[in-house]
Formats: sequence, C-alpha cells, structure tokens
Amino acid sequence: MCKLSLSQFLLNAVQKKEAVTTELSPLLMDIAQACKAIALAVSQGALQGTMGSLNSQNVQGETQKQLDVICNDIFIANTSKSGLVAGMVSEELADIYLPPQPSSASNQYLLLFDPLDGSSNVNVNISVGTIFSVLSCPAGITQPQIHDFLQAGKHQICAGYALYGTSTILVLSTGHGVNGFTLDTEAGEFYLTHPDMQIPAETQEFAINMSNYRYWPAPMQEYINECLQGESGNRHKNFNMRWVASMVAEIHRILFRGGIFMYPADSKAPHGKLRLLYEANPMSFIVEQAGGAASTGFQDIMEVMPTSIHQRIGVIMGSKNEALKTVSYYEQGR
Ligand code: AHG
Ligand code: MN
Ligand code: MN
Repeated sequence: MCKLSLSQFLLNAVQKKEAVTTELSPLLMDIAQACKAIALAVSQGALQGTMGSLNSQNVQGETQKQLDVICNDIFIANTSKSGLVAGMVSEELADIYLPPQPSSASNQYLLLFDPLDGSSNVNVNISVGTIFSVLSCPAGITQPQIHDFLQAGKHQICAGYALYGTSTILVLSTGHGVNGFTLDTEAGEFYLTHPDMQIPAETQEFAINMSNYRYWPAPMQEYINECLQGESGNRHKNFNMRWVASMVAEIHRILFRGGIFMYPADSKAPHGKLRLLYEANPMSFIVEQAGGAASTGFQDIMEVMPTSIHQRIGVIMGSKNEALKTVSYYEQGR
C-alpha cells in the first residue's frame, strides 16, 4: 500500500491551491509535531508522575491538571519558533501570548487552542485530545491585541484536532473537506488514513450530559424527551446515547457514524460550558466541512461575533438533519 504522509499531502494541497500556502503548510507540520509530543506526554503520564491535579486554577476557575499545563507548554514550544504565528490564545492562559520574536514573514497567523480536551478523563485512561483553530492576523499587525482574535468562526482558515485514543489521529480541514491522518509511532509520521470524511446526515444517536436535564431550556428537554420515547413517540425511531466527556472523542465518533453532540446553554451555565474560540468554532468548522451542521440553538456557531477570548457558548452539532431538527425545537420554543 502506498501511504501518503502529512507533509506530502500538504505539498499536494499547495500545488492544487487548496487554501494551503507555503506558510500554512509548515505551521500545520509544527502543530502535528506538537500533537505527537503531547501524545507521548499523555501516554507517559503515570510513569512520569504527571497525572495529578495542580493547586492552580485556569482563567475559567477550573482546577488545572499537571498535564493541562505540560501540554500547553508543549504546544507553544512547537509552534512559536517559526515566526509564522503572531499571537496565541490558549484555554490554559488567561491572556493572549505573543511569541518573543515575531518575524517579518508576510503571512502571520493567530493560533487558538485547547491543549488537552477532556482532561478530566486523562488519569482514567479514556481518550483525550487537542483542538486548534487558525485565523489570519490582520494585515500590518505584528503585535496582535485581544480584538484581533475576536473574529467569527466563519473566518477560520484552518481548524482541526488530534485524538489520543487507540491510535493518535490528526483530523484537519483548510476549507476543502476533512482529512484524517494516523500517527505511525514507529516511523514517527502521520499518514493519510481517512480521506474526505463525511458525517451521515441521518442519525439515531445523541450525546449529551443527561445529569444536566433539570437545568436545560424547555426546547432541549422536549427534544430529548422525544428521543427517549423511541418508536412509540413523535420521532418514530429508537435512539442510542453516548457520553465520553471528551468533545474530541464525541466529534470523532460522529465523523465516523453520525450522531449529534450537545452542550446547551442552561440555567446552570447560562452562556454554555464550551469555549467559542478554541472548542466550538474549530469543531464547527470540521463538522460543517464534513457535511454536518453546528448551531447554538439560536444561530450558526460560526456566525457568532466573539466579545472575549474565553467566551463560552451553547453547542448543538453533528449530523445535519438531526442538528436542524434540534434547532427547530428552539425556534418553536421562542
Ligand atoms: P476541557 O477538559 O478542555 O475543560 O473540556 C472538557 C469539555 C468537553 O471536552 C466535554 O465535552 C465536556 O467538557 C464534558 O463536560 P461534563 O464533565 O460536564 O460532562
Ligand atoms: Mn476542552
Ligand atoms: Mn482543555
């Protein structure tokens, strides 16, 4: 079998002018390198004694795990030296981060990331991931400020995630479909294993944290009620449920077999739980590029104009027909 490496794939994409430029390509290789190093750090956690929690909290008041901070440092170390990234936003950093020596490269990017998604799962050996989003740095800006990062998700030029599961897989899109690359740990290279990933439009599987049911708005309760009624209810079909508590793992499953993933804004978390800039937006980009849909319940996620870098948002995304069906409950409930 002739395997296509990530670097060869990116070279082909540059030649085909698929939104991959000679600047974006090395940035994506740096991100791949970061994910490779994070995969190793996560797998070595118990051996290195890094599975515990820290006494610190991140800017959102969540207790940081040792690996949250380690993975954040790894991601920054691997992506900040090329001179291609003018500034970064991370879940684990309160403020924006500017690499020490921004270069004069003509194409400068902004990089937004969740270094370790699902970190509550890390010490119980359940899949975790890394999520990233790439925006253009406004022309002429070498020292970006907060407002430069506040771009709607539709302006992303690239987004993706790495899932550290039974294998390490890197899934990315530059706006020309979605492709998945599996890490060959012996060769140390990512190879294209899942070209042109597509989410089935129909599904009978939902993912939501049911323990929050009492906090949800009426349309979400109504939607789930009808799923639970199965064949004898309005939907006339039985539904299955999954909840990994790692968004990356849920979305990856949905890319394979369809499904809908929801973390709605509710009375407990009035602005939602997931973060817009480095969780909801990049995952929406991937989902929509794979033929799915992504909404807050009130508007398309990628249309939301951010107002702060750690802003939270309600999330409904996955198989197109089911996501639109859920949104229709919100429209009727308004
Ligand atoms: P993070 O570990 O980066 O804070 O994100 C965890 C997120 C997301 O991955 C997952 O879907 C959700 O939190 C799980 O939330 P619950 O623990 O409330 O189920
Ligand atoms: Mn996360
Ligand atoms: Mn995280």
